[in-house]
Amino acid sequence: MANDTNKFQAIISHCKEYGFIFPSSEIYDGLSAVYDYGQNGSELKKNIRDYWWKWMTQLQEENIVGIDAAIFMHPTTWKASGHVDNFSDPMIDNKDSKKRYRVDHLIEAFADTLPEAEKEALLAEMEALLKTEDFAGLKSLIEARKMKCSVSGTANWTDVRQFNLMFKTEFGAVSGEADDNMVYLRPETAQGIFVNFLNVQKSGRMKIPFGIAQIGKAFRNEIVARQFIFRMREFEQMEMQFFIRPGTQKEWYEYWKNARMQWHLSLGIPAEKYKFHDHAKLAHYADAACDIEYNFPIGFKEVEGIHSRTDFDLRNHQEYSKKKMQYFDAELGPDGKPYGNYIPYVIETSIGLDRTVMMVLSEAYEEQDLGTPEKPDSRVVLRFPPKLAPVKLGILPLMKKDGLPEIARELLAECRASFRCFYEEKDAIGKRYRRQDAIGTPFCVTIDHQTKEDRTVTIRYRDSMEQERIPLDQVKNLIAKAID
Ligand code: GAP
Repeated sequence: MANDTNKFQAIISHCKEYGFIFPSSEIYDGLSAVYDYGQNGSELKKNIRDYWWKWMTQLQEENIVGIDAAIFMHPTTWKASGHVDNFSDPMIDNKDSKKRYRVDHLIEAFADTLPEAEKEALLAEMEALLKTEDFAGLKSLIEARKMKCSVSGTANWTDVRQFNLMFKTEFGAVSGEADDNMVYLRPETAQGIFVNFLNVQKSGRMKIPFGIAQIGKAFRNEIVARQFIFRMREFEQMEMQFFIRPGTQKEWYEYWKNARMQWHLSLGIPAEKYKFHDHAKLAHYADAACDIEYNFPIGFKEVEGIHSRTDFDLRNHQEYSKKKMQYFDAELGPDGKPYGNYIPYVIETSIGLDRTVMMVLSEAYEEQDLGTPEKPDSRVVLRFPPKLAPVKLGILPLMKKDGLPEIARELLAECRASFRCFYEEKDAIGKRYRRQDAIGTPFCVTIDHQTKEDRTVTIRYRDSMEQERIPLDQVKNLIAKAID
């Protein structure tokens, strides 16, 4: 069995070979920390996205509705949210050339000139310093290694300072003239929910507690972006803001921690692969926060954050927009009087869709040795839960003649409106099974000469590789049940 670093590399290669994930604009040598989803990856991602959406907006006891806000938002949004002032990473300037470097870029470029082992050690040192925000340590590292500016050729550096992670772009016809035209690409989807709080609450006559869910792209000019789709510059978030009465945040925080863990377990991933990590250092908006971490091949890492955001966001939007973000709570309190007007508190659940894809892939990927000393054999199988698999059913006529393809195509016509099928009539059946294993198809059926006689087919199960004969007219129901 491959060790974990090798497994991670093997997953990346497999994703490319089988149409899951490609480096962005690869023909131009790619774009750092940006990826494209291929024919199978986009289906896998969509299935995860749909499952989260349904769980949030349909399956909860609590009242949760979805929205789809624009990526561009009024720039004041990001002032109010604290991102303009607080969402930063370190940078350094060369005093002679005045050229500004992201600290990680400078160190990484230098590391590329070193032998592999030294390079890894230097990058590990850099990551540790970045993690603890040890700016003096980063500067010392740059000076000790005599890293030079590519323009001036000198090592005459300023102190390390913060760099904002938001991408900026310009709006409208006139570019480059004034800051008035400047907009950000949103670094989180959450603010689209906060600025629509009143719209949704009033138009939906929503009563607290209630939630607003959203799935969409977010953008961050990440400083350390080297772990495949774990840390990207363009990624997708699935977030839910749950609006509550002030003072109830502790119980709702515990409630959503537990509920979200149940969602993770419902993916068929065992409990020991997850852990909660409570934040010691809280983000600028939180009074309690934790991550749900999954044990990736590269170690336990964050997949989802659960944050008790107090009334920080709504209060700040009220202050900056001068619009009242209050809710009138008519329910009677312990003193027999209505709770009255207040700015709601918020519990947020925020999960990265791409990280979830990486988690599901990591859990599903298995290299199996099926051989004997006399007859070596192996397979790579992706053991996706059937509901998440890109293709649910492989339909494989044993031969390309004798009326077998016609029966197979009838089955395809019957099933394809209900779930995704893959039809293939070329190559030996064993080879075709292996290809379906490699993209995680949970079921394959083979149509052979016996099918013509008794209308039965061979169904083959991906995980056990067991085969059995079942009536042709039961195939659709069996698969539909398995993916429900
Ligand atoms: N609204 C709160 C928020 O954005 P976060 O912890 O910064 O909180 C939430 O991000 C989730 O978004 C993370 O748990 C992670 O899954 C995902 N995420 C954040 N940055 C990411 C990146 N650069 N690439 C991929 N996913 C990312």
